[in-house]
Amino acid sequence: MRIEPAVAVVGHVAVPGDKSISHRAVLVGAIAEGDTHVRGFGRAGDTQASIDAVRSLGVEVDDLAEDELLVHGGELRAGAADCMNAGTLMRLLMGVVAGRDGRFELTGDESLSSRPMERVAGPLRSMGAQIETTDGHAPLVVAGAPLHAIDYELPVASAQVKSAILLAGLAADGATTVVEPVPTRDHTELMLEAAGARIQRRPTSVTVERSSLRLGEVEVPGDFSSAAPLLAAAALVPGSHLTVHDVGLNPRRTGLLDVLERMGARIAVFNRRRAGREPVGDVQVQYAELTATAIEPAEIPSLVDELPLVALLASVARGETVVRGAAELRVKESDRIEAVTDLLRATGAHVRSRDDGWTITGVPARLRGGRVDARGDHRIAMLGAVVGVASREGVEVGGADSVAISFPGFYDLLDTLVKR
Ligand code: S3P
Repeated sequence: MRIEPAVAVVGHVAVPGDKSISHRAVLVGAIAEGDTHVRGFGRAGDTQASIDAVRSLGVEVDDLAEDELLVHGGELRAGAADCMNAGTLMRLLMGVVAGRDGRFELTGDESLSSRPMERVAGPLRSMGAQIETTDGHAPLVVAGAPLHAIDYELPVASAQVKSAILLAGLAADGATTVVEPVPTRDHTELMLEAAGARIQRRPTSVTVERSSLRLGEVEVPGDFSSAAPLLAAAALVPGSHLTVHDVGLNPRRTGLLDVLERMGARIAVFNRRRAGREPVGDVQVQYAELTATAIEPAEIPSLVDELPLVALLASVARGETVVRGAAELRVKESDRIEAVTDLLRATGAHVRSRDDGWTITGVPARLRGGRVDARGDHRIAMLGAVVGVASREGVEVGGADSVAISFPGFYDLLDTLVKR
């Protein structure tokens, strides 16, 4: 895919439904009583894998429309489920099935099979679950067993691990508490509250008890992480002004807005409302010259999937930016620290990898552009496209189709915004 430079990025758009919330709507809907009507579902490779996984475990899901589902809740039956590229699906599903009868076999693609699964298997085993991984990875087998509650302090800030334990806690004897070193996205907690679970939230911990669930309706807001590449493009190209409507604004997801503001971008948020318990609104970005900033570990979970874009923004901001505490990026769909360093260097930026992030020397001018490879990682493909739009000579993105994992219509939507 060749992405040509833009003169400006202008317009009003909406983006597909949030991937994290869409996964949770399918998985929680699958174990809830009765039907769950999901509106605004973000259909993409990963979320389709969630639908297919619960279907292969005996749950019926009706496709009412591209972005609308009816999940017929019931008992998940033993069997095999392919989680494809979706880490969120595999880790949350481990928690969902840990306390259920039968043998569940979970597989994934090559990338997912290289990602760490003991971080979930370990705490679930201490609840009594029987889990066998393949050297800490998928394929893995969960043999359902009676569970008991645990108190667990997360060693890494991970919403996926937290969610897996909470979902297992719904079927455990006693009160399960997860303590977080740094707050991570709380979509699971919000959805469980909405479903009537016995759940108690505190600033740095959350407790669940055995509960039956009834979800009924879920309205999924636009995915902030899909809006982010568009917002970044507008922040990078002089003369741009872009509004993304009806996008999720859960404060545990919108760290990029805080960073953009610190860097000097002009950001405004309008029409704040709620979709269920999730905050939603319209976000406007106007181009302004950017200056460097520092990204500290405590901030990382609120922008973990946007860090590749932060590295790009820093590459053209005045001054030096250091991103610290982001070692988790090494175990995403690709090693995103190296993937971002290679991509940005290949297009003219001054970036050095650290073990836990980057040091970036910004040069306030367009990057040259060049040829890059997405490494099968949707967020890297989108980064390459944004570099292309904001570059002098354009970018050729190899493996560009990996955007379909989270945002199949990404290039078409970007194209409607780009003035050439
Ligand atoms: C997610 C949590 C994050 C994030 C991922 C989605 C979720 O992963 O990077 O894209 O939906 O819970 P970790 O929990 O591994 O940090």
